[in-house]
Amino acid sequence: MYLKIFTALIFLFSIACSTVVDSELPIIPKPNGTNFKPGKFVCAEEIPIGFEDAGLNGLSDNFINFLGNFPGAGITFGKSKGIPAIQLKLDENSGCEEEGYMLEITPSKMAITSSGESGLFYGLISAAQLLLFAEEEDGKKVLPCCMVKDQPRYGWRGLMLDESRHFFGKEKVKQLLDYMALHKLNKFHWHLTDVPGWRIEIKQYPRLTTIGGIGNHHNPNAEAKFYTQQDIAEIIKYASDRFIEVIPEIDMPGHATAANKAYPEFSGGGSEKHPDFTFNPGKEGTYQYLTNILKEVSLLFPSEYIHIGGDEVHFGNQQWNTDPNVQELMKDENLENLVEVEHYFVRRMADSITALGKKVMGWDEIIKAGLDTASSVIMWWRHDKPHLLDDAISARFNVIMCPRVPLYFDFDQHESHEWGRKWGGAYCPIDMVYNFPVDTIDGDNNKVMGIQANLWSESIKDNKRLDFMTFPRLSAMAEAAWSNEETKEYQGFMERLKEMIKLYQKDNIYYFDFFNPEKTKEPAGFKK
Ligand code: ACM
Repeated sequence: MYLKIFTALIFLFSIACSTVVDSELPIIPKPNGTNFKPGKFVCAEEIPIGFEDAGLNGLSDNFINFLGNFPGAGITFGKSKGIPAIQLKLDENSGCEEEGYMLEITPSKMAITSSGESGLFYGLISAAQLLLFAEEEDGKKVLPCCMVKDQPRYGWRGLMLDESRHFFGKEKVKQLLDYMALHKLNKFHWHLTDVPGWRIEIKQYPRLTTIGGIGNHHNPNAEAKFYTQQDIAEIIKYASDRFIEVIPEIDMPGHATAANKAYPEFSGGGSEKHPDFTFNPGKEGTYQYLTNILKEVSLLFPSEYIHIGGDEVHFGNQQWNTDPNVQELMKDENLENLVEVEHYFVRRMADSITALGKKVMGWDEIIKAGLDTASSVIMWWRHDKPHLLDDAISARFNVIMCPRVPLYFDFDQHESHEWGRKWGGAYCPIDMVYNFPVDTIDGDNNKVMGIQANLWSESIKDNKRLDFMTFPRLSAMAEAAWSNEETKEYQGFMERLKEMIKLYQKDNIYYFDFFNPEKTKEPAGFKK
């Protein structure tokens, strides 16, 4: 009799647990270790958070401000007066790495432990998502008891935004930073200069913005749009409060058209299709000019990196063949062709960056420029040249993977879409983003710092289209960057995404509804 009751209890208990065990916590990106336990945590209306004990007042303000940006959460977080429902503990011996955390949910509390403040922040993000997306019982949010032990797969989890082609402004950038933080993305690469517009104030060269800031990809006469240094400082602070590093890109020696409009004396000319595309590598004054610019940039951005582009110089370096300054440089430095001139230029600018106390970041064109591998990082973007990733790793560079397919978010995400890019018919649907990287990497995996999605904006003229191209691929990319191969599981992700989409909806984000592709009309863009 007792045995029967005992067996029945075990059976019932296992059913109760299995519904929880088989499900996943509604967290994106999916944590890398979760053990469900019996019991549940029933939420009060206000969730007090215990920051004081851990001396984390800055973190508490940041977090509460951050969460306040998500509408309709139905939860009030406050600093605790009595016993906190969420307890934070900074503990060097927690066994968690800086960005990792443990989150323990018991019937009476949620406890978050990490060895770093970023880890505590990510633990709070997980707790916040659980609370935002929790099921309700009797009008109260209920969470399953569990132990989450989590840390990211990659240290570099990036998003790049091109604001030269189209300018979106501070409020949109802040919203993107909020969503990055909600997805535990930690690097915001800001592409601030290119052909149509120069978007960062440089005090020594004001015409860069007053003249170089005029125009965009679809209207060369659009009024000047740019960020003042004060605006930039505001964005950097906003990002840093969310544990996001902002990396500036000042593209050179190509993609320099906007700068050359403002200061034509440093132009190296262009081609018929890409006029005034390059800086002039044959003039000593060019190096001083660009170093002065980078000096202001280095003082403004706390990031250890400055990205100097280095891509697609061949689009418009033809006039170097006849420019007397470049010809003299080639003779003096024994440079045999224009690629060697380009590499010489990159080495000179890398020296300036090192002298400013920063490291160099550049697109994969700079692999063979002869840079110091310890102080330079390569972004591999040409997916049609996979050997470049291997080349960079074998040369001992650290690399970030952001191949066009599938990580360029200006590419289409559905076959029916018309305005985005495709590459020989290939585009970037969400499952392909989610499953990246598919191939194992030859060579030393430790050289891969992480992955990044790039939002180029030729075809993205407004916020509506920016949303459409970003969401929900951002959620998929975040899981690819954070969750281990063994953790990832696409069907489960789709289920969790349904919850996340409710948040997009509350926030009026014009996301692409890939569950129902006909429902969301593709906003028109511009062809590249
Ligand atoms: C690039 O897409 N030109 C880096």
